Amino acid sequence: MFLKSHCRPLLITLISLSSCFGSYTEDPFHNDFRQGHGYRPTTYHPYFRTFGVSNQGNYHNPNPANLFNYNNEIRPRLARARAPVSSKVVNVDDFGAKANGRDDSQAFKKAWKYACSSSQGAVLVVPRNKIYRLKPIDFSGPCKSALVLKIYGTIKASTDHSDYQKHGRRWLYFNNVQNLRVVGGGIINGNGRTWWEKSCKINKALPCKDAPTAVTFYECTDLKVAGLRFKNAQQMHLTFQKCVNVKAFNLFVTAPGNSPNTDGIHVTETQNISIKNCVIRTGDDCISIVSGSKHVRATGITCGPGHGISIGSLGAGNSAAYVSDVIVNKAKLSGTTNGVRIKTWQGGSGYAKNIKFQNIVMNNVSNPIIIDQNYCDQRKPCSKQDSAVQVSNVLYQNIRGTSASNVALKFDCSQTFPCRGIFLQNVALTPQEEDIAEASCSNVRLSYQGKVTPPCST
Ligand SMILES: *[C@@H]1O[C@H](CO)[C@@H](O)[C@H](O)[C@H]1NC(C)=O
Ligand SMILES: *[C@@H]1O[C@H](CO)[C@@H](O)[C@H](O)[C@H]1NC(C)=O
Repeated sequence: MFLKSHCRPLLITLISLSSCFGSYTEDPFHNDFRQGHGYRPTTYHPYFRTFGVSNQGNYHNPNPANLFNYNNEIRPRLARARAPVSSKVVNVDDFGAKANGRDDSQAFKKAWKYACSSSQGAVLVVPRNKIYRLKPIDFSGPCKSALVLKIYGTIKASTDHSDYQKHGRRWLYFNNVQNLRVVGGGIINGNGRTWWEKSCKINKALPCKDAPTAVTFYECTDLKVAGLRFKNAQQMHLTFQKCVNVKAFNLFVTAPGNSPNTDGIHVTETQNISIKNCVIRTGDDCISIVSGSKHVRATGITCGPGHGISIGSLGAGNSAAYVSDVIVNKAKLSGTTNGVRIKTWQGGSGYAKNIKFQNIVMNNVSNPIIIDQNYCDQRKPCSKQDSAVQVSNVLYQNIRGTSASNVALKFDCSQTFPCRGIFLQNVALTPQEEDIAEASCSNVRLSYQGKVTPPCST
């Protein structure tokens, strides 16, 4: 709603420009995606032209202040409209949460239990202007009715690593909850510095061990997570695993550019997820989409610093991986190590197919467009293997900007399973500095439409 009201004048102006993109209907994936997503070409918004001009600020709301307008004005109205009138309102303070720097976990557990067992719907409130300290917690369902968790204040993680021993890789873990909405404009702070220091990527003398994911949604259906800030996760910030029908809107995710493995939003084994209007600035992937995920849409995403938007990694340890029907539309990446990337390990199997990257602006990105089928993120070199995750039907459309490296476009595909159906349309990548920007292409079946620079030479 926010988006529509702010963008309408812009949209009208731009519709008249849309003839510049008139070849749209020739898009070979057009039909596939339309079925999967109800995608309508008439709503196509030639967004990338608008970057760098005066309307930039209006588009997807990269300023946290805008998030809060949305939260304070529109969100409560929506919430009132949707929550059953008789919903129980439950406040964590009523269950003994003190926000005094000591652990508040017990109060949160009791409040959750109470809210989750309400049969008339419940709103669980974390009050504003307070900082609650939490150890790892499981917020488990199924709940008796729909639940809204309103986080207005700050939730901060315990830094005592022994608190996490029983919980493995998690801090806040929502599990098997249906019809949950998590909203409120508050902050979820993973307090991750002590974990980063122990990462083998920072201290090479240490063994490689995983740190907790700040917030995990596991086996949740009909989930909405909107208008929250996530910062300084122990490792990943927000993971959706085995979830169905998810909306993740207006999120603001930040961690230092050198914090290890701090992915912004990680999507695994999840179907029907829409990630919209998010700003993600971290030390690892902005969004990563891995095996078992399909019908994934990411729209209006701002990234950087970080490693860019990734599909994968896939196929590690000779595993089979399946990712399909992904649309990344309207993204802006600045100073990231990759732009839009598909990464697979040698020796895997399965597929990554029906993928669209469209209307993307790159600003000083080291590998703006990359398919890397020789991905190897481990200490010892990866040995050559024949099998591979098959990459096919990938569209790159309306992608422009600057490359920080000489190789702006890289398709490093498997010799035994070349990348098929790779389609480039209106791609313009220029060097950030004076050097040339070139393409490096191996084992790839490509087609072009419109102007594509740099082109593969072979
Ligand atoms: C995914 O979304 C579509 C369209 O909204 C819906 O028809 C379909 O049932 C959803 N899939 C699942 C598994 O719920
Ligand atoms: C571009 O990126 C490179 C490498 O990441 C960095 O060294 C350089 O300062 C950046 N330039 C600008 C203008 O941001």
